[in-house]
Amino acid sequence: MLAEQRIAIVGGGLMGHGIAQVLAGRGARVTVHDPDPAVLASVPERIAANLRVLGGDDAVAQEVRLADTLEDAVGAADWVFEAAPERMQLKQELFARLEQAAPAACVLATNTSVMRVTEIAAQVQSAERVVGTHWWNPPYLVPLVEVVQGERTSPDVVQRTMTLLAEAGKTPVHGKRDVPGFVGNRLQHALWRQAFELVDAGVCDAEAIDTVVKASFGIRLAVLGPMENADLVGLDLTLDIHEYVLPTLDPPSEPAAGLRARAAAGDLGMKTGAGYRAWSADEAEEVRRRLLEHLAGASPTLQRGGER
Ligand SMILES: NC(=O)c1ccc[n+]([C@@H]2O[C@H](COP(=O)([O-])OP(=O)(O)OC[C@H]3O[C@@H](n4cnc5c(N)ncnc54)[C@H](O)[C@@H]3O)[C@@H](O)[C@H]2O)c1
Repeated sequence: MLAEQRIAIVGGGLMGHGIAQVLAGRGARVTVHDPDPAVLASVPERIAANLRVLGGDDAVAQEVRLADTLEDAVGAADWVFEAAPERMQLKQELFARLEQAAPAACVLATNTSVMRVTEIAAQVQSAERVVGTHWWNPPYLVPLVEVVQGERTSPDVVQRTMTLLAEAGKTPVHGKRDVPGFVGNRLQHALWRQAFELVDAGVCDAEAIDTVVKASFGIRLAVLGPMENADLVGLDLTLDIHEYVLPTLDPPSEPAAGLRARAAAGDLGMKTGAGYRAWSADEAEEVRRRLLEHLAGASPTLQRGGER
């Protein structure tokens, strides 16, 4: 039962506070730790603000316990969800500490976006209890959590993690092999890579890429995945298309030159006012609002919190 679980969230930033919101909203006893005191102190207000935007009850934000130290947060935990920065050495050291600080039966889950769970657990003796749980942003609106089985993760830990996440109202999917990027980000970044290459090659501009996606297969994707779509149009047609097009796709070896150049120039996207296009603060805010409204309307497992 989720309500009986003591859950520690390690890293209370963008993902950590949202994961805390979901689990506390479903009744788990949640503690958050972040080494940055300002970030830690902001967690309840960030959760309450999310809930207010969605029209939910923000009382749940006050039920999340804040812990100044890692040891205090995880000392009596049944589950740890790590949502610290995406740096391999940091995560390896953190998991070695978690192994010492958490009870022996506690499951240690990492929210890494792309890094192999096996590598993150490299310094952990009890690696059978280390599992990947790749939540998507925002965690309280996007249903999927990829549950990634590392080379040493026990099948029982995978199964219990799937059950816990289902009880939390999420849509867990089992990644049976620990490949970089898992399933979702491998698919997503295959698309992005090709988009950047098309812009670099002058085939079309950045706005045209987005229009092509949003006005065609993008609107189908929420109800028709690529495997269903291939079966729908027929594998004979799909094979003919692949025979002709695949040899012309760029090899997957390097980030696109245009991406590297923009990043090096400090054109990082909405946060700096320019990326593949210029963004005013109002335009950026409008995109975020549009996305939130869409997700809030589309999510079958919308978790407003306070719904106990
Ligand atoms: N942002 C996304 O869209 C997204 C989506 C899915 C997964 N992720 C993954 O989730 C993780 C967290 O990403 P985020 O976007 O929430 O980052 P973030 O920068 O918003 O939050 C990370 C937090 O970790 C804290 N931190 C730093 N060192 C720490 C330590 N040693 N122990 C504990 N906490 C520490 C920081 O103070 C910060 O508040 C990363 O692994 C990221 O790849 C991010």
